Amino acid sequence: MRLVVLASGSGSNLQALIDAIHRDELPVQILAVGSDRPGTYALERSAAAGLETFVVDYRSFPDRAAWDAALLEAVLGFQPDYVLSSGFMRIVGADFIGAFPRRYLNTHPALLPAFPGAHGVRDALAYGVKVTGCTVMYADEGVDTGPIIAQRAIDVLPEDDETSLHERIKAAERELLIQVLRDLAAQ
Ligand code: GRF
Repeated sequence: MRLVVLASGSGSNLQALIDAIHRDELPVQILAVGSDRPGTYALERSAAAGLETFVVDYRSFPDRAAWDAALLEAVLGFQPDYVLSSGFMRIVGADFIGAFPRRYLNTHPALLPAFPGAHGVRDALAYGVKVTGCTVMYADEGVDTGPIIAQRAIDVLPEDDETSLHERIKAAERELLIQVLRDLAAQ
């Protein structure tokens, strides 16, 4: 499976993929890692692992459509089978989704359709749920609305804060993501 990964943050899930590939446990080739802003830890990790990186900086485009078009062009240049949003904090446009039908994957740190959006862990804690989890899905044009591929549940502990809960969710998210990519690569 030829994969382009998009990430905006620390890239810890991406690092888990890189490690699994190095251990020969995941038959995936990461063609490149892209970001919507320069200087992220995800880009730093990727460069350290010898991966190609690219930035399509949201702030250097006049509008969303221009940024979308530039992102699509950059990703298409790598001719990936799949694109993975791994903590990529931007919604892409219709052209991007249309270019990768059921080929653009996303993860979310809650059990969708509960708690979509940028603060899924915080919102679940604030609501007081006793079980939350993570979701791997196909991304569409909505915010965490695409078809669900797989989910895993995690208990919320009485002493949890957002950081501790998100760390446990991310541990599950990494395992689930690797499993899903392995299954898709085998198809
Ligand atoms: C993950 O929980 C992902 O679902 C969310 O942000 C986190 C990514 O963390 N959107 P990292 O950048 O992989 O460390």
